[in-house]
Amino acid sequence: MHSFGYRANALLTFSLTILALMCVIASVSDNFNTITPTASVKVLNINRFTKKSNGDDEVGVTLDISANLQSLFTWNTKQVFVFLAAEYSTPKNPLNQVSLWDGIIPAKEDAHFSIKTKNKYKFVDQGSNLRGRDFNLTLHWHVMPKTGKMFADKLVLPGFRLPEFYR
Ligand SMILES: *[C@@H]1O[C@H](CO)[C@@H](O)[C@H](O)[C@H]1NC(C)=O
Repeated sequence: MHSFGYRANALLTFSLTILALMCVIASVSDNFNTITPTASVKVLNINRFTKKSNGDDEVGVTLDISANLQSLFTWNTKQVFVFLAAEYSTPKNPLNQVSLWDGIIPAKEDAHFSIKTKNKYKFVDQGSNLRGRDFNLTLHWHVMPKTGKMFADKLVLPGFRLPEFYR
């Protein structure tokens, strides 16, 4: 019969082996996690489109934002910061970026979402450049890990256009 000490030792060795194996699997899975986020955004309505008294254009929109960012979450993900930006070029600037909405996704369960919202931040152009302007809506994300480096990426949803006239 094996002594108690022998069995306890065998059990400990076995546990440590399993633990080491789990650590290897976890870090490998984090590195090889394939990221396949999807997003779609609809402009449900242009609520207002005006030229302000200082000459700047301002747009108010209602957006339908759907995304599945669950693949960004691994055992090592603390949270994900997302923001939706309108991106367009004007004669003066090749890239103008206006953040319209943002959010923090605390957990994988929350990373598959669909919301209807008005723009949280003002869509203002410093100038009078928005009439008939083509723009992209770009969903950016920053993945904040528990350990290691933060990383960021985005999905570009092209093909939007503002009306020709103020309303
Ligand atoms: C909008 O998206 C298209 C297609 O991805 C890209 O070619 C274009 O440069 C983008 N426009 C801006 C202003 O980023």
